[in-house]
Amino acid sequence: MKIGFIQTAPVFGEIKRNVDNASRRIALLDAELIVLPELFSTGYRFKGRKEALGLAEDAGEGYASTVLLEAAKAKKTHIVAGFAERKGSRVYNSAMLIGPKGLIGVYRKAHLFWDEKKIFDPGDTPLRVHDIGKARVGMMICFDWVFPEVCRTLALRGADIIAQPSNLVLPYCPAAMITRSIENRVYSITANRVGTEERKTGKALRFIGSSQIAAPDGTVLAAASKTRPGAASVEIDVKRARDKKITPMNDLFKDRRADLFDL
Ligand code: ACM
Repeated sequence: MKIGFIQTAPVFGEIKRNVDNASRRIALLDAELIVLPELFSTGYRFKGRKEALGLAEDAGEGYASTVLLEAAKAKKTHIVAGFAERKGSRVYNSAMLIGPKGLIGVYRKAHLFWDEKKIFDPGDTPLRVHDIGKARVGMMICFDWVFPEVCRTLALRGADIIAQPSNLVLPYCPAAMITRSIENRVYSITANRVGTEERKTGKALRFIGSSQIAAPDGTVLAAASKTRPGAASVEIDVKRARDKKITPMNDLFKDRRADLFDL
């Protein structure tokens, strides 16, 4: 199976431009699962909740969902993409999983980062794993990486691949996701963005790029630049993520001393 990411440089608020650009790049990438960044269609730096609600879309119904569905159908691929999700008067920092037949699942970011707490409602979706045929996929979003329970829960629920749409600004995540892959024996795909957003004078945020795909043994199979848009796809062997044996006598899940943990 081939999996990939697209690292973008969205322009804040220009949904059509950002989505059409991503769609053109999906058409060029040879992969059966493609991950796009967090909030790929809108950009990140909302001035407030009202602005986010105005740019958000209902899952499966807005411009981003519609164009991504067309792209997934045309390429017979699956796509994970971060977007601002409107649900009545609520607004979530969400990720959608779309396949050739339509919307498969939505994950709403559980761990909101910094000012996101002033803008988005905290996620209320369970950590679900979706079977897309060749692999089982779990979604998490960016800052969720700081909470190892997210990856662990997805892995315990059967995920082979963790898809992580991101808008990273702190430098630690790419290294941490190598560890998340090793400690759960899963593939991870981190799709980040590049560029700077300064929507409040003197408060620029610079995104660190460095999208990557890590294997269950921690090998980095693909890595993108810190500053430029890019894309990559790699061939993986899903069976490797289903073998949880570390040594003939150590099974990653069976050896867990859950009786000693506060979980
Ligand atoms: C982040 O969660 N966007 C840093």
